[in-house]
Amino acid sequence: MSRLFQPLTLRGLTLPNRIAVSPMCQYQAKDGVANDWHLVHLGGLAQGGAGLVMTEATAVVPEGRISPDDLGLWNEAQAEALARIVHFIASQGAVPGIQLAHAGRKASNPAPWKGSGSLSLAAGGWTPTAPSALPFDEGWTVPTALDEPGILAIIEAFMDAARRAVAAGFRVIEVHAAHGYLLHQFLSPLSNQRTDAYGGSFENRTRLVREVVGALRNILPEELPLFTRISATDWAEGGWTLDQSVALAKELKDLGVDLVDCSSGGLVPRAEIPLGPGYQVPFAARIRAEAGLPTGAVGLITDAEQAEQILAQDSADLILLGRELLRDPRWPLRAAKTLGADVAWPVSYLRARR
Ligand code: FNR
Repeated sequence: MSRLFQPLTLRGLTLPNRIAVSPMCQYQAKDGVANDWHLVHLGGLAQGGAGLVMTEATAVVPEGRISPDDLGLWNEAQAEALARIVHFIASQGAVPGIQLAHAGRKASNPAPWKGSGSLSLAAGGWTPTAPSALPFDEGWTVPTALDEPGILAIIEAFMDAARRAVAAGFRVIEVHAAHGYLLHQFLSPLSNQRTDAYGGSFENRTRLVREVVGALRNILPEELPLFTRISATDWAEGGWTLDQSVALAKELKDLGVDLVDCSSGGLVPRAEIPLGPGYQVPFAARIRAEAGLPTGAVGLITDAEQAEQILAQDSADLILLGRELLRDPRWPLRAAKTLGADVAWPVSYLRARR
C-alpha cells in the first residue's frame, strides 16, 4: 500500500494522506483580509486531494506582513473571511491549516512582481522590527531593534492569532520560524546580536521561538497539532546550522510541537544553496532520527514516486509541495493513480476518473 496515501494521525487529528500544501504567499489580500482569490486558490487545492491545505504566511500583526498584500489574523474581519475558506476546505475532506508569521526585518516589501527590496514609507511601507538593527541587505530599511515589551507583545499577538485561527476552524497551526523571518532572525547569530536574554547563547537565541511555541501549546486544544517550520541551515558561514536545528527540535518536541517542517535558507541574501530534487530531505531525515519527532519534507519534490520513497525510507512523515501544486493543483489525484492508491475524488469530477 502506498505510504503517501496512508493517513497521518497527530494528536487527535488525522490527515487523510501525507500530502500537504506548503504555505505560499499570494499577495492578493487587502488589509490582511482573504477574498475570492484565496477561496478559489486554497479551495481548488482541497478539491485536488491534498490532505492538508495550509494558508500562506499569515501575519499576526500588521507590521509583521512581508508585503501590504499579505494575509493577516489580528482582527475579527480577517478571521471571518478565513472561516469561509476553512469551511470549504473541510467540506472537500482536506484538513485546513494556517501558518502564523511575523516577517521581522524582511517585512514591508512589495509583491515580487511589483519590485524587490524595502517599500519606502511614501509607497506604503513601514519601518520593520527585528532582534537587532541590521538590515537584510544593502538598500533595505534598517529595522528597529525590539525591546522586551515589544517581544512580549509579539508572543501575545501569536497567541491572539492562534485563538482566532482555532475559532475559525483551522485544525493545524504552524509557527513560521524559517526563511529569515522574525523568529529565524532571533535564532541566527548573523541577524541576532542582542546582549540581553534573547541573544548570545543558543539558549538565548532560541528563547523567543520556545516562548511562542510554549504559549501556543498552552492555549491550543489538546487534540490539535502544532507544527513549526524551520530553516535547518542558513547555508552561511557563522549562521544557524543543522546541529543547532537538531538541538532545537528536541526542545520543540518537549514543548509539545508535533511536527517540524524542514526547510532552509532565507536569512542572508545570495547564499549558495545546492538546489536539486529533494535537497532538503536529509534535514528532515536527520531531525526525525535524532530529535525523535515527526518531520515534514519540502523543496523540489515533484514526483509521486519520489514522494513515496522519502516516506518509505523513513526520512519524513509528511510531504509538503509548493510550486508543483501551482503547476498542477490536482497532483494528488494523479499521484494516487501512479501509485495505485485510492483517493476520494470530488463527486462532481468522478466521470473524469478513469
Ligand atoms: C513560498 N514559500 C513560502 N514558505 C513559507 O513558509 N511561507 C510562505 O508564505 C511562503 N510563500 C511562498 C510563495 C511562493 C509563491 C512560493 C513558490 C514559495 C516556500 C514554499 O512553501 C516551499 O517551501 C518552497 O517553494 C519549496 O518547495 P517547492 O516549491 O520546491 O515544492
